[in-house]
Amino acid sequence: MDRRNFIRLAVSGSALGIIAPQLVLANSSKMAGGLYYTKDAPGRWGKKVLGHLPNIEVSKGGGSTSLQIITPHEMKGYEHYIVKHMILDSDFKFIAEKLFDPIADKLPLSNFDLGNYQGTVNVLSVCNKHDTWLNIAEI
Ligand SMILES: [Fe+2]
Repeated sequence: MDRRNFIRLAVSGSALGIIAPQLVLANSSKMAGGLYYTKDAPGRWGKKVLGHLPNIEVSKGGGSTSLQIITPHEMKGYEHYIVKHMILDSDFKFIAEKLFDPIADKLPLSNFDLGNYQGTVNVLSVCNKHDTWLNIAEI
């Protein structure tokens, strides 16, 4: 490869790196029902919404906000269980997560202290059989 082609590839590659995350976000609604599932886009798991959509309860007090997340799902050992809850901010950046022990945890319930965070929180609940579910709250 000559030097001119290498530079051209390097420039286009770096531009793609800048643009690609924006493309992902712009197409995020297309991912619902495929990469992850929501109440309105349950994809192949249309009959599984109630047991997999994470319920979000927001509590405010003393200048801080806390979330309680419950997925109304069985914890049947390693056979069928909720693997974790994950909290992402409005830009889908990681805030916190809770991993569950399918033997010790009898209910997929988690609590998060978000301090003074305001805005959108994206809450994911991951089932070992029925994939990842998203619910959203404004705080
Ligand atoms: Fe499940």
